[in-house]
Amino acid sequence: MNHSETISGVKFFSRKEIPLEMHKVKVVQQLQLVPVERRLQAIQEGGYNSFLLNTRDIFLDMLTDSGTNAMSDEQVSKMFVADDAYAGSQSYDKLEKSIREVLGKKLILPVHQGRAAENIISIAFVKEGSILPMNYHFTTTLAHIQKNGGNVVELYKEEAMKIKSNHPFKGNMDCLRLLELIKKEGRDKIPFIRMEASTNLIGGQPFSMKNLKEVRAIANEFDIPLVLDASLIGENAYFIFKREKEYENSSIAEILTEMCDQADIVYFSARKLSSSRGGAICTNKKELYDKMRDLVPLYEGFLTYGGISIREIEAMAVGLKETVREDVVGQSPAFIQYMVNELDKLSVPVITPGGALGCHVDAKQFFPHIPQNEYPAGALVAAFFLVSGIRGMERGTISSTRDINGNEILADMELMRLALPRRLFTLSQVEYAIDRLHWLFLNRDIVGGLRFTEEPPVLRFFTGRLEPVGDWPQRLIEKFKKDME
Ligand code: F0G
Repeated sequence: MNHSETISGVKFFSRKEIPLEMHKVKVVQQLQLVPVERRLQAIQEGGYNSFLLNTRDIFLDMLTDSGTNAMSDEQVSKMFVADDAYAGSQSYDKLEKSIREVLGKKLILPVHQGRAAENIISIAFVKEGSILPMNYHFTTTLAHIQKNGGNVVELYKEEAMKIKSNHPFKGNMDCLRLLELIKKEGRDKIPFIRMEASTNLIGGQPFSMKNLKEVRAIANEFDIPLVLDASLIGENAYFIFKREKEYENSSIAEILTEMCDQADIVYFSARKLSSSRGGAICTNKKELYDKMRDLVPLYEGFLTYGGISIREIEAMAVGLKETVREDVVGQSPAFIQYMVNELDKLSVPVITPGGALGCHVDAKQFFPHIPQNEYPAGALVAAFFLVSGIRGMERGTISSTRDINGNEILADMELMRLALPRRLFTLSQVEYAIDRLHWLFLNRDIVGGLRFTEEPPVLRFFTGRLEPVGDWPQRLIEKFKKDME
């Protein structure tokens, strides 16, 4: 909400700025801020990897929105009427109905989460030497495609890599480069084109409907299927509503179905999209469905639960319908934009404009003295945890991988992501995060890099362990205690 009605020099909310639908906090969880000495011990025990921290040591958990969006009373209550059955559950019928209504797809394959959908799609369509064009990869997408012998080609536009920008759709695909790629490689090498809504790894940045339709036209011209990763499609639809002039009078529901209409296959992580757990692959094309169907009982579970708890299927069915509400998909982007604006005013480098999922802090500019192969984004996450008790996520070179010769593939961006899941935090908690990050920024010279002590070959960011280069964590907390305690 913005103050915009001015009466005698005083600003009031205008009628149009007050949302007609809102939510309130009904159930809460107790949190505690443990002493800074314990935070140091915790991050040491966790190998300087925020995935290896325990929530007992965490004050505000901004790791991810995956499975952590606040649920509605309607969702929770439906979990108690779940129809537990291995096959033919009526709860699954409700999910099918919701997917038809919200995403406009009739043939549905349930899977236990988003990456399970990527596993099945990759096994079904990717071959040795396949080329997969996309606006940008997600970590698990890349891993599954590579596991099946495919290569990802990222076709983002130049604007996507600019940290500071006012471009409304930095997640757009470069259609000229897509055309060139298809002409160079030939359509037979390309099993599908992938578009990711609210492009996760480059700051939750959306694509426009116009861009999606351009990609669809190229897919039609060459008869290549278009796959849409819809994990963050609710927020992308919200950004289209807010930022794409042609859609200012459309509803989120209309935008969502129009987006899905462009794609041959839509898949998602329900941990994000429907504020529940689970995932699904959906299509209206029988021939595509048939290529994937038998993989679901093999890897996930029977076709009416796909490895998801039936209770969660109930929550998914309700959550999907709620995803078309502006107060559900617009609240997190509004908080993110607030956080981005405030940090920007303090000269803390953040990705602008604000996107979906979280506020993204640029560690390259935050720590210009830390070389990329000493993982500035990982160091920022560890240092921020020490000074705030807030857990963020590294989205930089640690989340990347090595090439076949064992050399680091340096990430395009070095980001600390501070997730603001839907309806989870209050604005005063966001203020606390801004305050502590500002202090860290003013003391950034103390912080140094990290190095691996244990490095798994696949998705190393999940379980890898690191140590600081030098004694910067001790020096940082000494200064912190001097200033703050
Ligand atoms: N696609 C996108 C765009 C995602 O953001 C994620 C997960 C997945 C696929 C995989 O889904 O976790 O249910 O297996 N993103 C989480 C995150 C992990 O923290 O950003 P999943």
